[in-house]
Amino acid sequence: MTSLLLLNGPNLGILGRRQPEIYGTATLGDIEAAVAERVADRGWKVLSIQRESEGELIHAIQDNYDSVGAIVNPGALMIAGWGLRDALASYPHPWVEVHLSNVWARESFRHNSVISPLAAGVVAGLGPLGYELAAEALLDLVPDS
Ligand code: DQA
Repeated sequence: MTSLLLLNGPNLGILGRRQPEIYGTATLGDIEAAVAERVADRGWKVLSIQRESEGELIHAIQDNYDSVGAIVNPGALMIAGWGLRDALASYPHPWVEVHLSNVWARESFRHNSVISPLAAGVVAGLGPLGYELAAEALLDLVPDS
């Protein structure tokens, strides 16, 4: 079966308990289920990988070139994750960057993402819905095999 890669960086495994006033109460499991439902009709399953370290995220990308596309929330690696950026540069399918919060309405160190220039698109500030919108975009961006 064909997989859509759902990649989440540091501190996103504790969604639901992590600063709910900023990130909401949905868990990563809730998000995985919502994305899976969006792409089910296309025959895609969701391969969800959350890691706290950049190296493990890089391996997750390198090990999954056979996925159809990816949704990537880099967490704080948006700020200086140059290795993650280089890994995404070699990823051979469309991918969309997602942030739950509106990073531009927050501290200035969150205003620039090193991975954004490579993304097909960026969704920020819409909470878990952002992941679902990214999935919808990928349904459009990924050619039929
Ligand atoms: C985040 C925004 C980042 O700045 C932050 O470091 C996160 C979460 C978001 O989803 O809003 O970990 O990517």
